[in-house]
Amino acid sequence: MREALDLWQQEAVQELTSAQSEQEVTQIRIKYLGRKGLITGALREIGSLPPAERRRFGQKANQIKAFIEKAIADRLEELRQVKVAQELEAAWVDVTLPGRRPLFGRKHPLTQVLDEVVTIFIRLGFSVAEGPEIELDYYNFEALNIPKDHPARDMQDTFYLSDEVVLRTHTSPVQVRVMEQQSPPVRIIAPGKVYRCDADITHTPMFHQVEGLVVDEGISFADLKGVLELFVTQFFGPETRMRFRPSYFPFTEPSAEVDIQCVICQGKGCALCHSGWLEILGAGMVDPAVYSFVNYDPERFTGFAFGMGIERLTMLKYGIDNIRLFFENDLRFLRQF
Ligand code: PHE
Repeated sequence: MREALDLWQQEAVQELTSAQSEQEVTQIRIKYLGRKGLITGALREIGSLPPAERRRFGQKANQIKAFIEKAIADRLEELRQVKVAQELEAAWVDVTLPGRRPLFGRKHPLTQVLDEVVTIFIRLGFSVAEGPEIELDYYNFEALNIPKDHPARDMQDTFYLSDEVVLRTHTSPVQVRVMEQQSPPVRIIAPGKVYRCDADITHTPMFHQVEGLVVDEGISFADLKGVLELFVTQFFGPETRMRFRPSYFPFTEPSAEVDIQCVICQGKGCALCHSGWLEILGAGMVDPAVYSFVNYDPERFTGFAFGMGIERLTMLKYGIDNIRLFFENDLRFLRQF
């Protein structure tokens, strides 16, 4: 019996040394110290020993029990420390590594140009007006002196939502909406999205325009020229030359298209411009017929209007030859601005 105690002690120590988890240690505790454990069993046997041996045997068994208890506690503590060390290792962070730079967003080139154009006109005393992209036929055409059967409707490939509702094909309807709401003097620009059923390397079904409208007593074509000259030199640079070409719009009379000298070849003539000149906008004196739709007195008030395409301005300013680049969201393109 006494030898058995020594043997169990040795075995328990060996088993504990190779135990790799709390559960394994628990099994060992049950095996030796549990209610049916080996040591527990030995202690229960004491009563059956000769009285002379009881004391020594009991002492010995209790020593070994205490020894194993301590060995178990030690092993558990060791395992706990190993686990903590492993967790620390896994969660290790090298605080000396350089940080990751946050990615900064930036404004889309069209937004940048739109902002720039708006700023130039705000400095000239214009205020900003807006109108809906889903527009009534009345504002998009009718009140701009383009009746239903007018051939000028063919100039713009219109998306019709119903007989009376369209996606606006230009920002000019904002002219009518503003004049309906306020009497002269009017000095507004109207930036926004417009839609035409058209797609090639210089046209997309959605693009942006900025409309301008000035109405007051004594406004002349010279005022139009002065304002646009100022805009062109501020936007494209002080050396930029521009010219007015006679043109036709149903809502302006006289009408003009404005060209600037080609930014690529400086007017010599190249593959982009052919003639040395590039068209940048349409303009003219507001046709008195439009005033009749908004109850302005055409004898008292005159005014001018203009409309320009933001994509086109941006392509000319930065030498971009494909309009789709604006809408493909390729960061290699967008980051250049
Ligand atoms: N709305 C015209 C277009 O989109 C441009 C324009 C605006 C012309 C104002 C004259 C006056 O083509």
